[in-house]
Amino acid sequence: MKIAFVGKGGSGKTTLASLLARHLAAQGLPVLAIDADINQHLGVALGLDEAEAAALPAMGEHLEAIKDYLRGCNPRIRSTASMVKTTPPGRGSRLLRVVERNPLYALLERQAGGVRLLATGPFGQDDLGVACYHAKTGAVELLLNHLVDGAGEYVIVDLTAGADCFASGLFTRFDRTFVVVEPTRKSVAVWRQCQGYAHGFDVNLSAVGSKVQTSDDVAFLRDQLGADLLVCVQHSGVVRAAEQGRLLALEALEAANRTALERLREAVDATPRDWARFTRQAVEFHLRNARAWANARTSEDLAAQVDPEFTLRPAALRLATTP
Ligand SMILES: Nc1ncnc2c1ncn2[C@@H]1O[C@H](COP(=O)(O)OP(=O)(O)OP(=O)(O)O)[C@@H](O)[C@H]1O
Ligand SMILES: [Mg+2]
Repeated sequence: MKIAFVGKGGSGKTTLASLLARHLAAQGLPVLAIDADINQHLGVALGLDEAEAAALPAMGEHLEAIKDYLRGCNPRIRSTASMVKTTPPGRGSRLLRVVERNPLYALLERQAGGVRLLATGPFGQDDLGVACYHAKTGAVELLLNHLVDGAGEYVIVDLTAGADCFASGLFTRFDRTFVVVEPTRKSVAVWRQCQGYAHGFDVNLSAVGSKVQTSDDVAFLRDQLGADLLVCVQHSGVVRAAEQGRLLALEALEAANRTALERLREAVDATPRDWARFTRQAVEFHLRNARAWANARTSEDLAAQVDPEFTLRPAALRLATTP
């Protein structure tokens, strides 16, 4: 199950992504966490120190290797250079599973707080003024587009703040998207913005109350969000203590907040898979990108990369190039 955390800056996305990842991993469930935020904080939230977090391999710097691997022997993709971030998989592509050994995970994955972690990498000095962060999150888009995940397997992506993630097709790559909402009007405004952008794309959005302190906070969120409010995570002394440098032990987390994490899991587990939608939108956004810039960039008609016979789903693993 592919899960995204979005919301206003500072609302608690990274905190909740890291807590859910650790909560699931502690139950022995397969979890892959991905830091796709321009401000890379997920590693530290999972328990790495600053030096370890800074040493994480950056997916954005290994785009060529990622494309080269995923392309496999798909005859519709002429070369690694003609593979763009939206190029969808087809027969002959290499598909990924959540749990497997493959050269990409070997290159990019590290352990953090008992969770497997991938990171897009920060926006570097060289990128200033010339590149856009979507080039780096493109690595995540490629990965998600080639990932065949089963029920009970979780991929948790911490995205950029605000509505930025709606500027690419990335927001359609998830089974469930949690919008983290503090009990403030600004945070609710970002929820409404996300709702507006997602409208018409069959995206499963749930609002998650964050840093809730009083019954008035809960009443405010209920009033503003109605049935879209899945659960409220309370302001946590344990999270605050971790912020002050003490190690966050999951078992020490307040019972109400542990229950809230379980509610998130239940909501994810109850989401029906829709591989047809996933594939259809991958193609739709690829064609949009092809027309907007990628055909010109590659001097090819990238519509030809679409394999009309292909739907990403477990059965597609048979049609793929094996690692
Ligand atoms: N439930 C909570 N209880 C107490 N503090 C919290 C809670 N959730 C988040 N915080 C604190 O709020 C601050 C912002 O949280 P966090 O970094 O998770 O937000 P974010 O949405 O990822 O921010 P950014 O937009 O910068 O990525 C941090 O100091 C974090 O420790
Ligand atoms: Mg964050």
